[in-house]
Order: sequence, then C-alpha cells, then structure tokens
Amino acid sequence: MEKEKKMFLGVTGGIAAYKMPDFVRLLTKEGVDVHVVMTKNAEQFVTPAVLRTVSGNRVLTADWSHQDDPFDHLNISKEMDAALIAPATANFIAKMAHGIADDLLSTAVLALACPLYVAPAMNPRMLQNPAVMENLRILESRGIRIIPPESGAMACGEEGEGRLPALEQLRDILLATRARKQDFIGKRVIVTAGPTEEPIDPVRCLTNRSSGKMGTAIARAAATRGAQVTLIHGPVAIPLPAGMETVAVRTAREMLDALESRFEACDMLVMAAAVSDYRVASPIAKKMKKTDAPPTLALVQNPDLLEMFGKKKGRRVLVGFAAETEDMAHNAREKMRRKNLDLICANDVSRSDIGFGGAYNELVIIPRGQEPLHTGRLTKEALADIVLDEALKAGAAAFAASGGMK
Ligand code: CTP
Repeated sequence: MEKEKKMFLGVTGGIAAYKMPDFVRLLTKEGVDVHVVMTKNAEQFVTPAVLRTVSGNRVLTADWSHQDDPFDHLNISKEMDAALIAPATANFIAKMAHGIADDLLSTAVLALACPLYVAPAMNPRMLQNPAVMENLRILESRGIRIIPPESGAMACGEEGEGRLPALEQLRDILLATRARKQDFIGKRVIVTAGPTEEPIDPVRCLTNRSSGKMGTAIARAAATRGAQVTLIHGPVAIPLPAGMETVAVRTAREMLDALESRFEACDMLVMAAAVSDYRVASPIAKKMKKTDAPPTLALVQNPDLLEMFGKKKGRRVLVGFAAETEDMAHNAREKMRRKNLDLICANDVSRSDIGFGGAYNELVIIPRGQEPLHTGRLTKEALADIVLDEALKAGAAAFAASGGMK
C-alpha cells in the first residue's frame, strides 16, 4: 500500500482491540488515512473517542441510531486501498465466512472492494477449533488474506498460537500491499512449490521440511495479477489455490518432466520448490526388512532443474530461491550466476522464526547485477507480491527489447 492511501480498519471485540489506537498512530505516521469501524463488543476494550482522536476521522460504531447518514456502511466501503479486520474474533470470522451482516461492520465488510486482511486473535484452543479453522480456510479460498497469529503468552494466561502479531509487523504487511494491478495479464508463469520425495522403498523416502507455502503464495499472487499460472508441486499438506493448472509430482525427475513439457511456452519460471539434490540409486520394490547390519543407502545426484532451464532461458524470466544457513548473499549470488537467473531470493533456513513450514519469512532479494533488497519479516503472501514486483523489474529490459518476455 503506498503512502497517502485510505485504509479501512475494522475492530472487533477481542482484548487486543486496546492496541488499535497505537496501531492507527503507526499508520498515520506513514501518511495512511485510517477509517475505523468498530463492533459493539470492541467498545468494551477501546473507545470510539480515542480512535477518532488518533485517526482524525469519524469512527463508525454498531449503533446505527447515532449515524447521520443511512448509507454510512456503503460510503465507508468505497474507495479504500486496503482493509484490515484486527483483532478478528472467532465470531466475526464466522460471520464473514457465512456472509452474515447483522451490524454496521459486518455489513460494510460485504461491500468492500479492496484487498482485505484478517488478523485473528484469540485463545489458542479457540483458534484450533475445527469450526474456526474451517472458517479461516473459507475466507482464504475467497482471496482474503489471513495474517497468521503469533505464538506466545496470551492475555488469558495460556501459552500458544493466537496473539495478534506486533503492531510494526502488521503495519509492514499492510504497507507491503501492492494495489492489485493486473500487470501479469497475458503472461504464462510456472511456479514450483514444496519438497520432492525420493523413494527408498514403497514406504520410506528422502524428503525435506518444505511446506509449499511460499511457492503457493507466489502462484496465487501471480494468478490474482492476471497471469496464466501452472503450479507444479511436490507432496504438500496445504490447500491448493483454485484458478490455475496444478500438477502434483513426487520426485525431482517427475518435476523435471512436468517442467519440460511446459517451459517452452512460459514467460517466467519461479523455482520455489526444495528439490532434493540426491536420490536413492536403486529404490527397492519391496519393503526393506530390519536386519542386524544397518543398511547403507547409495545415493546418486538428481539433475539441477534450475541450472538445466537456465541454459535454455532465452528471454524468459528465471527466479530461484537459495536456502542458506551461512554467508547468504555471497552463496545466493553464486547460485544466481551458476544457474543463469534474473533474480534470486535468499532465506536463512537456520532461523526458527521464519522459513520452512512457517507462515512468515524474510528474504534477501537480489536482482542480477543490482543491490540486494532486504524485505524484513513478512507473511509469505506479502512477500509473494514483492518477489513478483522484483521479477517483473528484473525482466523489464527483456520485455522492452522484445515486446514480451520470451
Ligand atoms: N534447485 C533445482 N534443482 C535441484 C536443486 C535445487 O532446480 N536439484 C533449485 C531450487 O528450486 C532453488 C535453487 O535451485 O530455486 C537453489 O536451491 P538450493 O537448495 O538453495 O541450492 P542448491 O543449488 O541445491 O545448492 P546447495 O544445496 O549446495 O546449497
């Protein structure tokens, strides 16, 4: 979201609502014009007067009788650049998931036409309730971006996942929002995601802890921005995005086959998959039996897919990832050179607060021949848009020369 933009902030009745005046101040300092709507229960934790003072705008509350304009709920939903519901209670999430409009905020939310974020904050056991998880999945499948809660000590005294992320974190996620430009229309983008799995025998395999969340977020963002997307993914346990071709593979060589038949026609390849560098030389057809002498697994090298496609890159934009535990920028640049990439996104996989499996990541994005961009810790959704912006910029010279990316 660029500065001097209008933001809709919906506040619902969770304890974290008391933090919203500070949050509004953080945003207004960045030049964002914040318009607050709150539920009746939110008023138990923060007053409309405080939010009006810090935002400098009228605050709409649940009490329609005090509103001078009967169309307030519609007027406030117009011309917003982004909207956030924070904190979002289990009840409000349920209402959103089912289109219930029984107060001013829930009615206004139905009329919003801008990118919408939801920051759930509640007791960890409530968050894990299957009904709440299902409602969050419903919202996500409709393109609403869920800002994952953080783990830590809760107001109720329990420990676990459910805290509203730090206010600076929320601000950065919103400010990283790009207007949903349709800047990928007419472009074919292939994204790979998740781990690969190399069989040892019918029940055992070599794999890694990649969840597929980063690649899936990039695929979803590219599709939202108008691209024709193919998502080639290894075995993942996360919901797959709709509105694109999805190809499930298991091994690195299956991923290679899926890429080979599609690479020619693509404009951009983003290799977010954690491809296994090795496979078992001779997988066994029957389950290995336990023996007294521990078996030795002979491994052979898998093809480096990105390096192979780097050799026939043409004017396609190639984006790689670099999972590093040390010397990030140096190792990433070396990979970019070796694999003939336009852009490489390095992440520190030794940190437990970001990366593999989690909802957050922090990237050092290096365009070829340029200075690195340090993103800071953001959700994988926010990072996906930044990666795509940088990939477009990195490929811009090629577009100019050819009038297209190929
Ligand atoms: N990659 C690939 N094929 C492989 C291994 C990796 O296409 N067999 C891609 C990954 O998808 C990623 C990039 O190459 O975009 C870098 O992967 P990474 O595992 O960080 O590096 P490697 O090249 O495997 O080098 P190393 O393991 O030595 O760090």
